This record gives sequence, C-alpha cells and structure tokens, in this order.
Amino acid sequence: MQKKWWQKATAYQIYPKSFLDTNGDGIGDLRGVLCKLDYLQQLGINLVWLSPIYCSPLADQGYDISDYYRIDPRFGTMDDFDELLAEAKKRGIGIVMDLVVNHCSDEHEWFRRACEAPDGRYGKFFYIEDYDGQHLPCNWRSYFGGSVWEPLPGHPDKVYLHSFHKKQPDLNWENPDLREEIYRMMNWWLDKGVAGFRIDAIINIKKALPFRDYPASRADGLCDMGEMLAQAHGIGDFLAEMQRRTFAPHDAFSVGEVFNSHAEDLPAFIGEHGYFSSMFDFSAILCGKNRDGWYACAPTVSGEEYKRSCFASQKMAAHVGYLSNIIENHDGPRGVSHYLPASEHAEAAKKMLGGLSFLLAGIPFLYEGQELGMENTVFENPEDIDDISTRDEYKVALAAGLSPEAALRAVAPFSRDNARTPMQWTAGKNAGFTDGTPWLAPNPNYPRLNAAEQLARADSVLAFYRRLTALRRSEAYADTLAYGDCIPWLPEQKNLMAYLRRGSGKTLLIVGNFQPAPQAAALPGAARIVLDNDLPVTLSGGKISLLGWQFAVLEISES
Ligand code: NOJ
Repeated sequence: MQKKWWQKATAYQIYPKSFLDTNGDGIGDLRGVLCKLDYLQQLGINLVWLSPIYCSPLADQGYDISDYYRIDPRFGTMDDFDELLAEAKKRGIGIVMDLVVNHCSDEHEWFRRACEAPDGRYGKFFYIEDYDGQHLPCNWRSYFGGSVWEPLPGHPDKVYLHSFHKKQPDLNWENPDLREEIYRMMNWWLDKGVAGFRIDAIINIKKALPFRDYPASRADGLCDMGEMLAQAHGIGDFLAEMQRRTFAPHDAFSVGEVFNSHAEDLPAFIGEHGYFSSMFDFSAILCGKNRDGWYACAPTVSGEEYKRSCFASQKMAAHVGYLSNIIENHDGPRGVSHYLPASEHAEAAKKMLGGLSFLLAGIPFLYEGQELGMENTVFENPEDIDDISTRDEYKVALAAGLSPEAALRAVAPFSRDNARTPMQWTAGKNAGFTDGTPWLAPNPNYPRLNAAEQLARADSVLAFYRRLTALRRSEAYADTLAYGDCIPWLPEQKNLMAYLRRGSGKTLLIVGNFQPAPQAAALPGAARIVLDNDLPVTLSGGKISLLGWQFAVLEISES
C-alpha cells in the first residue's frame, strides 16, 4: 500500500465540553485545549480529533449543528480556533474536525427555511413527507427512541425524518444541491488548514427508498434502523464523490464512524483508493449487544471476547487498509470499566488493556482521560443522567418491567455520560476542570486519579502511555508498527492475548495476561524486553512467565 503521512500517527480525541474550562462557565473551551497542547505533545500525539465545536443548541452535545461555519460561543471564537490550529501545527499536531452531515440541527437556517417553504429549495434538503394524521411513512425507530417521524413545525399535514433526535433532521443526500453545500463547507475547513475529518454516523446517509415498514423488533411496533440500512444500497456513490471532491485534493485524513462493516465492503471503504483513510473498529464494543435495549446487554466484555473481536477485525483489514483502534470514545463506557472485571481496576490491568489495543495494526486513537485510566462514573439516581440516549434506555428498561433502581443499575454501565465526565487534571476543586459549576459532575474518584498525580510518578498509567507513543515513533520500531503485519500468537491459549507485529526486518511480540492468575506462554524465538507495564518480566526456557494482568513487548529474533 502506498505510504501516507497519517499512517504513523497517534491520535487523541478531545470532547471539548469536558476537557478544560478557562472562563468559569462550567463548559470546556478552545482556550482550554490551547493550554494543554504541550501536555498533548509530551504525550506523543500528532492528530487531535475535536468533537463538534460548531454553533449548536447542544440537544445532542454539538452533534446537532446550527451553523457549520461558526464556532459556538460557548467554546470560543474563530480567532481561538485559528490560534489553536497554528499552535498545534507548531507542535506537529494536526486538527481533525467532526463532520456531522447525516443531519443538522432543527435550528439550522436550512431547516428554518424548509419549514417556511417545504416545497422550496431547502425543503428538498430534508426528507419531508405528507401526513394524513394517521399513517406515518414507515415504522423506523430513531436511535434515540420513538418514531423517526415528527410533525413539520407549522405544517400539521407534513412530517420530517430524524434518524437521531427530533432536533436532528436528516439531510437528503439524494439531492445534488445539498451535496454541493456540504462539499463547499468541507473544503472551506480544509482550506483553512484542518488535517481532516472524523465522519459521524456516515452509514446513515443512504436510505432504502421508497419508505416502507420492516418487521418490528419491539412491542412499540417499530423496527431497528439496521433493518433498513441492510436494504440501502449505493452509498458508495456518495462517498466516492465526497472523497474526490474534498479529501483527495487536500490529501486529508478521514476516519469514518462505520458500524456493521462487512469484509467485502472494506476495500471500498479503506482500501488503497478507499472513500476514507481509516474507519473505527467497533467490533469489541458490539460484543454482548442485544436489540431489546441496554438493560438486556452484557455489562462487561471478557478478555476472550475482546481478543477474538480484535483478531477478527485485524484479519479482515490485513493488506486492505488501516483500522482506527479504540477502547473508548464519547459514546459509551470507559474502556477499563468495560473490558476489565470490576474488581480489576489496578493500574497494571489498565496498562495491559491500553497496550494491547494501542499496538494493533492501524491507527491508535486515545480518548481524553484514557491515558490516566479514567473509569466509569457513579449514578446515584435518574436525575444524574444527562445523556439523551441513556434517558431513553432508562425508559426502555422501566417499560420492560425493571424497578427504577434496577433500571438505573442496568443502564449505568453503558451510559455515554461515563466518558463525558470532566477530564481529571488535579485533585483540586472539580478535578481542576473548572472554577465554576461543571456542566456534568466529575467522577468522585478524581482526588486519587488525576493527571497531576500521574505526571509526578514514573510508573503511572500516563507514563506508560507516553512510553507506548514513544515506541510507535522510535526509529527502531516505527516502520514495523506502522506497516508490519499483525499475526495472532497462541490465540487458543485462554486469557492470553498475544500477537506478533512483523515487518521492516523486525518482529515484536505483544503479550498480555488477561486474568489475575499467572500464566506462562511459549515464545516464538529468542526474546528481548522492549517495554513492560511495570511488573517484573521473567524469560526462561523459551517461555515468558506472566503475572496477573502483566503486559510486555518483546523483540523476537526469529531463526
Ligand atoms: C455518533 C456520535 O458519535 C454521537 O455522539 C451522536 O449522538 C450521533 N452520532 C448522532 O450524531
């Protein structure tokens, strides 16, 4: 595969609202990001994905954009943004914007004008259908609950489609006029100097038309959007056009939020001439999911499931393209809480999980606070829930017959709020996130778990992530890690997750013991320790003896 500038990158996602507040309004801002650029540089980051900072009523925390060309005043100004871009560039960091174009906000001018004249130019930017007061165009269930159809304000005889919240009307990608507007906006940001885009909910832009019902999956008589998406063919035409008109001329980085990917689609999506540079691997987060709702899902994922899903994805992408590997993002639980047993939140285990994910083939993406080992938060009562999707799932759990306490317990492990609690900078007031009242309460564990404490300690989770990023940049191993193959090692050995990264004349063995009990693993050749998770490594007789949750990277001399 042709070499590209982003293949050696280490990326970091910032959720600006929760990162650092510099003006005391309880909401993180761009000046907060500016303050922490040195921290990010020292962490070894060279791509920063900013979750949306555009003007927005924040019905879905900025994933409902009311003006694609302006920064929301809560986050700062365009001058702040330009300064951020320039200062990041000085530190070798590219800024990746969030591209939310399956839908906009109902407060966007396009939608306002569509309401004024549903048959006019802007009416055609959306999916607006006639409504007789009884029969909706179809029975699709929105991702945030309820029907995807909502009465068009001012027009009781019309409804509009929203795959997500009713304040997020879907844009009609079948309309070339709309697509032109989107490309113009993307090129405006790319011309400004952003490094690329993370592309939100992109798989939803193609609808199976004409609208029709699919088999209902719950008592509400509605069907999962997945049913419809499985019948929606031809998204490639839109994505190829977007690639040709925007990313390609700018040599931009693009990473798609693509769920339910199939092996046969991968070359088109992320192959040499794919629509995107990369796409997230969500396979592990999908383990244990159940269509009935979060209350029916398995609250954690075992080490064996985690290993199997990572290896299946790696196999699928091998010699095709670059996956982006994550253990968490702003849409779910903290990785350490989801993939490690509740009793095992010790630092060794957190480092092991982080190391195993980080060194897979692809682009490692860290999410803010992951480098500290931040954990799921605590929900005392339903009023603690901020996230719209958790609120909906709580109702689903109640409707399924759970008591209020059981419903809260059931949805808490999946809540998007877990990842959205303020970044834990210090042991001081509000975790050092704000001098004001934080928009979301910090995780109560911040007095013991925070960046200041970890910066001062050589064996902290933060120090470990710095060693990982240094390894990825190192002259000795950068090529192997960026271009080498990923080959599972002893995949059948229970609770052992091990793989080789082989290429550019070197072989590394990455190995983690996914259990509290020690175990030994055979080595593929003579081995030398390159990196560990601060537990003593024992090599002898062609084996490595691993303590519980031990992690190591070894250079292997293969004969
Ligand atoms: C995926 C985003 O990551 C999520 O936060 C958002 O709610 C939906 N897409 C809708 O934009």
